[in-house]
Amino acid sequence: MQDRQSIHGSWASRWTFILAATGSSVGLGNIWKFPYIAGENGGGAFVLMYLVCIALVGIPIMMAEVLLGRRGRQSPVNTLKDMAIEIGTTKRWAWIGLCGVAAGIMILSFYSVVSGWVIAYVVYAAEGTFTGAGVEQIGKVFNDLLADPQELVLWHTLFMIVVAGTVARGVNKGLEAGIRVLMPMLFALLLLLLVYAITAGDFAAGWDFMFHVDFGALSWEAVLIAMGHAFFTLSLGMGSIMVYGSYMPKKASIGGTVLTVAGLDTLVALIAGLAIFPLVFGNQLDPGAGPGLMLVTLPVAFGNMAGGQIFGFLFFAMVAIAAWSSAISLLEPVVAYVVERYKIGRTSACVILSGFVWVLGVGALGSFNFGSDWSFFGFNFFDLLDFMTANIMLPLGGLLVCIFTGWWVGKKITADELNMKSELVFNSWFFVVRFIAPVAVAIVFIANLWQKFAG
Ligand code: TRP
Repeated sequence: MQDRQSIHGSWASRWTFILAATGSSVGLGNIWKFPYIAGENGGGAFVLMYLVCIALVGIPIMMAEVLLGRRGRQSPVNTLKDMAIEIGTTKRWAWIGLCGVAAGIMILSFYSVVSGWVIAYVVYAAEGTFTGAGVEQIGKVFNDLLADPQELVLWHTLFMIVVAGTVARGVNKGLEAGIRVLMPMLFALLLLLLVYAITAGDFAAGWDFMFHVDFGALSWEAVLIAMGHAFFTLSLGMGSIMVYGSYMPKKASIGGTVLTVAGLDTLVALIAGLAIFPLVFGNQLDPGAGPGLMLVTLPVAFGNMAGGQIFGFLFFAMVAIAAWSSAISLLEPVVAYVVERYKIGRTSACVILSGFVWVLGVGALGSFNFGSDWSFFGFNFFDLLDFMTANIMLPLGGLLVCIFTGWWVGKKITADELNMKSELVFNSWFFVVRFIAPVAVAIVFIANLWQKFAG
């Protein structure tokens, strides 16, 4: 199965793969989720654990996903199945892919709701709602949005239509041009926010919060959340990166490509944090404010800087586009699988699946209004979807990918796909995939179970 092509399309070059994978990984995870969970989990020590997980678990698994995808050239489910057949073992390895299909649907449902908040903010910024506004006024804008299910449904629906429409056309069309221009723009606007935070916020307090490490404050649950986020932010554990790998040209080098993507992703998250926390402390806000953190702090900056109306509009528009390029990578592996399995067209698959996601999303947005008293194991529905996927399903998927790659697929095939110049680098990667990454994930899982039930 050396030189197969995917039936779903292929990237024009290695550069397109970098753009697409960066588009997938840079998204709400970096700008919305990372700052708020770092805030909830006490900052420094949590940030350090997140960085360790990116380096030790995330990057090696990302390489494994890309290499499996590129060799299999199908949806993650069938890629894993064919790889298992190729090496003569049980086809049950394909279940990792099926778990990913479920995770993709669940993540996309609340991801679309949050993307909807961002779209609402594009409109508010353009209307000048934030101009001159203080923190209380902005807090009220956000709470009013959450309290209005109709408005939330409207934006969630719009986002899902755009995402389903893009995936129906095929992800290799249109994505490249969009990302090539818009990603650098998002980056420039983040730097603008950073400069504002340095000059107008309490930068020293923000910096200290993010980088002063105090392990005393770190619980095993916080380590699990940091590890789960490493998977979430790099789009690992459910097949996004694997399916994008399946459209990657054979000759491109996987190692360097993955390092570029992970490096850019981490940079964006750190800059987002460094822009948000100085504003949090400068305005006496609570770093543990929860999912609304970015939406109650950043408008303060746009409301008070010169040209803030236009910059605010552009910024939220860029964040919405980053969310779009991530969301299509959540839907793609699911659609690719359904097309292969049921032999239906891409468009029908997109309509059916996004309808499903839409319904779940309406349940998720209900957590902030009509369903605010629904409780599942102490979580509301929105948090349940997030916790189950990011902290359980994705790390579990990643753990199994490591075991499959390191112990079953083995050295010969992986060396052939990675085709690295340095044997030392290859052997280190292989060792991490075989031992370090799976053991690290297992320890974090076990420590959490222990603390829940025995501690
Ligand atoms: N990584 C994206 C973000 O940070 C979200 C995302 C895209 C994702 N594909 C994924 C998360 C697959 C988990 C699994 O916004």
